[in-house]
Amino acid sequence: MDSLTLARTIHLIGVILWIGGVAMVTTVLIPAIKRFNSKEEKIETFEKIEGRFAIQARVTTLLTGATGFYMLYELDAWERYLDYRFWWIHGMTLIWVLFTVMLFILEPFVLHKKFKTRAEKAPERTFRIMHRLHWVLLILSLIVAAAGVAGSHGLFFIK
Ligand code: HEM
Repeated sequence: MDSLTLARTIHLIGVILWIGGVAMVTTVLIPAIKRFNSKEEKIETFEKIEGRFAIQARVTTLLTGATGFYMLYELDAWERYLDYRFWWIHGMTLIWVLFTVMLFILEPFVLHKKFKTRAEKAPERTFRIMHRLHWVLLILSLIVAAAGVAGSHGLFFIK
């Protein structure tokens, strides 16, 4: 297996574990937690499960980003950033930047504390907002992943 194929394989495994996890949190975990009666149970369960997933998300984000940039280097395809027809490359990079900032800066230094204070005061509203945010990130990630597969196999969406 050549290094480009290896990078592509690791890239995809990274995406599956990362975006698959986001899908699980969005469609299974948060809806189940929203049905809990007690506020304490809601916060504790969410923090325990999402906390474990955050580690997986950090590792897979790093793997996906590293292999993505490596593929651009191997393909010598940096000029795609200057061509709007490769909007899915911009999309991948944007999703990656968004998650990197969230997972490595905002979550540990800002959001974690904020979530706890807000969830203590208004649990329903806090989980509703968080659920919406997860849906937005999941839908954007799925659009970019689907366009990435089609685009890497030669489909141009814009002439
Ligand atoms: C820094 C971030 C990223 C960079 C630089 C990057 C770069 C790349 C490159 C260069 C390719 C191969 C394109 C080709 O063969 O013509 C690719 C493929 C792909 N990427 Fe990314 N990517 C990044 C993040 C993401 C993210 C966040 C997702 C998912 C939401 C994603 C999903 C995919 C998929 C599904 C493929 C298609 C693989 C295939 O079918 O061969 N990538 N990416």
